[in-house]
Amino acid sequence: MPHIYLNQSSLTAGKGGGTLNIMTTRTSKVIEEIKKYKLVPVLVIERVEDAVPLAEALIAGGLPVAEVTFRTDAAEGAIRRIAERFPDILLGAGTVLTTGQADRAAAAGAQFLVSPGFNPTVVDHCLSKGITVVPGINSPSQVEMGLKRGLKVLKFFPAEVSGGIAMLKALGSVYDVDYIPTGGINAGNIRNYLDQKRVIACGGSWVAKKDLITAGNFSRITELCKEAIKLIG
Ligand code: 3PG
Repeated sequence: MPHIYLNQSSLTAGKGGGTLNIMTTRTSKVIEEIKKYKLVPVLVIERVEDAVPLAEALIAGGLPVAEVTFRTDAAEGAIRRIAERFPDILLGAGTVLTTGQADRAAAAGAQFLVSPGFNPTVVDHCLSKGITVVPGINSPSQVEMGLKRGLKVLKFFPAEVSGGIAMLKALGSVYDVDYIPTGGINAGNIRNYLDQKRVIACGGSWVAKKDLITAGNFSRITELCKEAIKLIG
C-alpha cells in the first residue's frame, strides 16, 4: 500500500482549511521522486562554478538528483545555480544544521532538506514552513522523535557504523517508518541496502567524490552514475 507522507505542518495547516493537500502533495512528490531514483548523490562543492558542470554530469549519468551539503561556503550559491539552470533536477540541501541554513537553502531552490542528526528546532522550523525535511537518526529514540512529528521517512546516518542492515532490520520490526541510509554506502553494498523493505533510497558520495569535482573530472562522475544505475536497477 502506498504511504501517505504527512508532516506536522500539513496537519496543523489542515485544521484551518485548504493547505493540507498542497503541503502533503508537495512532500510526497519529493519523496516519491527520491524513491524513483533510489540513489541521492551527496555532493561537497567547494567552488560555485563547479555546480553546473557537476549537475550536467549527474544528468548525463541518469541521476538528475542531488543533495548539496552545507559544508562549504559555496553550497548556497551552488544550489541557486543548479536550481536556476536545471529546474527539473531533484535538488536537496544536506548537512543543514541551523534554521538559518534551512531558510537559505530553501530560498536558493532546495526542494528538500537533509540533516545528519535530529535537531528538533530545525525539524520543527522546516515543518512549520512546509519544507520537506529528512532528518538523520540512528536510534529508536530518534525515530520516535520523527514519528511524534508525523515524519514517515528518515535518513539513517551514519548507516554503516550505526549497525548497517542489522540495525535497519531491528528498527523495521518496530516502526512504520522508511529510511534513506547514508554514510558508508558504495557500489559494493548499495544493492543490499536497497533490498531491505524499509529502504526507499540511499544517499552516497561515491559517485561524485570531492576530489573528482575539484579535479573537474566530470566525465568520470557520469560514468560512476551509470555504473551505479546498473547496480540499483
Ligand atoms: C553525508 O553527508 O550524508 C555523508 O557524508 C555521505 O556519506 P558517504 O560520504 O559515506 O557517502
